Amino acid sequence: MIETRRHQGFGPTGVSSPGKVAFMCGIVGYVGPRDARSVILAGLKRMEYRGYDSAGIALVADGHIDIRKKSGKLANLVAELESNPIPASHQGIGHTRWATHGGPTDDNAHPHLGAAGRVALVHNGIIENFATLKAELSAQGVVFTSQTDTEVAAHLLGRAIESGLGLVEAMRSVVARLEGAFTLVAIDSQTPDTVVAARRNSPLVVGVGQGENFLASDVASFIEYTQEAIELGQDQIVEIKPDSIEVTGFDGSPATTRPYHIDWDLSAAEKGGYDWFMRKEIFEQPKAVADTLLGRINTDGELVLDEMNIEVSELRTIDKIIVVACGTAYHAGLIAKYAIEHWTRIPVEVDIASEFRYRDPVIHRSTLVVTISQSGETADTLQAIRHAREQHAKVISICNTNGATIPRESDAVIYTHAGPEIGVASTKGFTTQLIACYLLGLYLAQVRGNKFGDEIRSLVEELEAIPEKMDQVLDDLETVLTLAGNSLSEPSILFLGRHVGYPVALEGALKLKEISYLHAEGFAAGELKHGPIALVDKGLPIFVVVPPQGRDQIHDKVVSNIQEVRARGARTIVLAERGDEEAMAFADVFLPLPVVPTLFQPLLAILPLQVYACEVATLKGYDVDQPRNLAKSVTVE
Ligand code: G6P
Repeated sequence: MIETRRHQGFGPTGVSSPGKVAFMCGIVGYVGPRDARSVILAGLKRMEYRGYDSAGIALVADGHIDIRKKSGKLANLVAELESNPIPASHQGIGHTRWATHGGPTDDNAHPHLGAAGRVALVHNGIIENFATLKAELSAQGVVFTSQTDTEVAAHLLGRAIESGLGLVEAMRSVVARLEGAFTLVAIDSQTPDTVVAARRNSPLVVGVGQGENFLASDVASFIEYTQEAIELGQDQIVEIKPDSIEVTGFDGSPATTRPYHIDWDLSAAEKGGYDWFMRKEIFEQPKAVADTLLGRINTDGELVLDEMNIEVSELRTIDKIIVVACGTAYHAGLIAKYAIEHWTRIPVEVDIASEFRYRDPVIHRSTLVVTISQSGETADTLQAIRHAREQHAKVISICNTNGATIPRESDAVIYTHAGPEIGVASTKGFTTQLIACYLLGLYLAQVRGNKFGDEIRSLVEELEAIPEKMDQVLDDLETVLTLAGNSLSEPSILFLGRHVGYPVALEGALKLKEISYLHAEGFAAGELKHGPIALVDKGLPIFVVVPPQGRDQIHDKVVSNIQEVRARGARTIVLAERGDEEAMAFADVFLPLPVVPTLFQPLLAILPLQVYACEVATLKGYDVDQPRNLAKSVTVE
């Protein structure tokens, strides 16, 4: 059985937010018979991963807007609402913020008011022309109470309402003036039972209830009440009332929408007894991987990818693949390169999304761009897709979020079925992305005839055996947990790997940096001697990922690398195949892994590294799910 480690309470957060960085926020809107305050606070709680430096709520009651907002985590807003209660209401909006323009203060927290408090508005994104608009409004006598770009939109909305427009028309007039990325959600004290929202380049979904409706950045916010949703398209405005949802384009034209059913429920979005979402998500990996593999082989024994809307004939002409992603997803992309090149012999490049466009990549019609994004909203990755499509490349996205912007703007999508990932540090996102990359590689090998059907089936069977092997690793964590307990005062930790073990080393180091704030670096084991070995000093802990023994030369070379660092005083923590005596001989700590083909080893080798990072951060008293300075998905460039 999987051990569920529970920890009491949350440690000090150490969260400090920069005054002007570009991240993301969480937005909630509600109209219906329930207590709007409770619905919005519960929704914000589940949106908090998107931003957590301030939060606010605005409700309409008796023709008035009441507003409360507080810097710091949502708990501060909840405390404020207890000491300064807000009148009961059935119509309102809420926001959890991650600072963009203006530091995380009470004044800069959303909602912002317009028309002398008649309208309230929340915003996710960045209004790029806010300075011009602010100067224009100031010249007309508008007094600003915050340093945010958002307040400009609130005042524009207020003025449009005061000029006699209805809320939808007023919103339409506001978006016509804005440049940049935005989701705006607004209420008007004189428009009962209505919430209006607009979206451009920033996420927004509608939750469809019975006699009630919801708006949110992410379906997790309303999953407790409904599993039916509508994804809003680009440049659309939605008006929700208890019994109606009306969607139009920014230009007023009627819009088509795509309703869908969410195939997970509230329990998936809650911690279920774990101390952290991250720990829960680590332990969910066997199931997430199994779910991502489900239904991929048809009755003829062929690999099928459901939403592969690219003609087989086109896939056969591909002569180059470029994988584009950020953070953990980029590490999955690095591993994809080894697998796809090996199976298909198509050259694969891997780019960090924020670098991709600017290096003027060579892209043709015969280039396939593969983007990887858990959230499907990462702005750097989205811009890379747009650039690639302008150059006539086909784009396949690997994504965990149904209906997110990235899959919508791609030619084809492979969904990972990991369920919601809430912890900022990605875990099940990573392993399910790997599965999707392997499936894509095998699919290309199938359609291009690089591999026989039985070879492909046997590799898929190897993948299907992975969840059980993941369970074995996750059932045997005593050594990792002890190791974490002994690592708290380490100034620095290194990770080494070779072949697919190299991206695993990078990802192991990233996990540790992200949540435990320890200095950690990952290196290609063979590159160590060209510089980084100078860092090795007595007692320095070094994790080494050793390839399976079958990989004759690489295996032996990594074992030599272990000896090199050990000879210089390092303490080696070796992850290798169970029974690998050669590796064991040079290990101060040995972490055995079940036997799998080399290309699939990252699926297992990353698990102890995730658990290690989670435990170090927990023992240091940090907020594992909401590390300082980071947001789960970065929706601006
Ligand atoms: C952020 C997160 C990372 C994540 C990266 C890419 O930086 O903090 O954990 O790997 O974005 O996110 P995506 O949703 O595109 O996979």
